[in-house]
Amino acid sequence: MKEKIFIEGGKKLSGTIPISGAKNSCLTLMPLSLLSEHALTLKNVPSLSDVDTMNSLLKSLGCLVNYTKSEKRLNLKMSDQTLFLADYEIVKKMRASILVLGPLLARFGQAIVALPGGCAIGARPINLHLMALEALGARFSIENGYVKGKVGSRLKGCKIEFPFKSVGATANTIMAAVLAKGSTKLLNVAREPEIIDLCKCLKAMGSKIEGEGESTIIIEGVDSLLETAHSVVMDRIELGTFIIAGAIADSDIKLTGGNTALLEKFIDKLYRVGVEVHQTKDYISVKRINSSAIKSTNILTEPFPGFPTDLQAQMMALLSIAEGVSIIEEKIFENRFMHVPELIRMGANIEIEGRKAIISGVDKLKAAPVKATDLRASVSLVLAGLVAEGNTEIDKIHHIDRGYEDIIEKLTACGADIRRH
Ligand code: EPZ
Repeated sequence: MKEKIFIEGGKKLSGTIPISGAKNSCLTLMPLSLLSEHALTLKNVPSLSDVDTMNSLLKSLGCLVNYTKSEKRLNLKMSDQTLFLADYEIVKKMRASILVLGPLLARFGQAIVALPGGCAIGARPINLHLMALEALGARFSIENGYVKGKVGSRLKGCKIEFPFKSVGATANTIMAAVLAKGSTKLLNVAREPEIIDLCKCLKAMGSKIEGEGESTIIIEGVDSLLETAHSVVMDRIELGTFIIAGAIADSDIKLTGGNTALLEKFIDKLYRVGVEVHQTKDYISVKRINSSAIKSTNILTEPFPGFPTDLQAQMMALLSIAEGVSIIEEKIFENRFMHVPELIRMGANIEIEGRKAIISGVDKLKAAPVKATDLRASVSLVLAGLVAEGNTEIDKIHHIDRGYEDIIEKLTACGADIRRH
């Protein structure tokens, strides 16, 4: 019998929630172990099923993996039995598996990676990954659902302009270019904090990179990389999620280990709806201004530093109890409204018009049996359950375990009546 989450709504929260290391940085950092024969030690690694999946993938490629959950420390080191096949059975579970493609081509000149396939939120093609890696000298063929890559001699640096910003394509290309011969200039790259974290780790490994966090990155290829230890940046999406937990439950909570500088646009939007987020040197505090009702606002999801698409579903849960009508436009993914029908089951009043969701705030959400469909949709149902009248039951909660470390324990410690069994 699969586990479900049960939440008795209406409880006030109080207390402190620690923020973990970023899933999306961790999944981008782990493939760096393929780029060097030396050890890579990652600290502040969250215990998540996606991290387990990436560990399984790296093991299948010949990497020695040792994760100490209590210390949140992950030790990775390539053995001399390197394999080059990323099998569909692993890749189909997690799209981020494609991030081994660039490192395998850069270090070993060959790779066979299952095409990730789509997922709940969209088709999520990898054409930009392949375009950029081809520009560096890789040649690809697509056979039986696998992308087979080969490099004649060594990848060669060049100038690459991305038609639009892609986090994964930016990461894959950077990881390939650091071992290419000569200089690479990347234009219109993703500026996410996870890209900055990746470059910080690569520079500690001896890479020569400039411009990370801006739209143009310059990389001078090197011949080999060094052993290093790196601490994963905090998870800004987890931070944003728990900020909304405090806001939706009209509670004053504190968050530790966070950094509001990575969420400026999001925090500005929260202020506009009546929620004050304040950072001291020890914690981040969240509270409604004068305990007033949440106001409506309009949201447009954009690449960093815009409003993060990974906080869209969570913001929708908050706006579903706002005063007035809000419009959320999802500009990044073509199908990231799977949480809407579930929120409607809980009494939300939401209409979808193409990539826009029109949310007419209601006074109260009501508990209902609902199901999780993808990672961020599932956590938006938890947020709605915190404030819904009655006992909300959430099915298919394996989605949550992909990206939220100890979420039940963290919310229970603040007084939420939430259990899983
Ligand atoms: C990363 O996915 C994150 N995942 C996603 O987080 C996040 O939503 C996304 O970036 C946007 O911020 C990880 O970092 C592991 P993209 P990624 O390439 O790299 C299209 C979560 O909930 N595109 O920036 O796959 C794509 O379909 C997850 O933690 C192409 O068309 O996102 C999308 O519409 C969900 N061709 C848009 O670009 C390509 O070759 C942005 O995707 C690549 C992408």
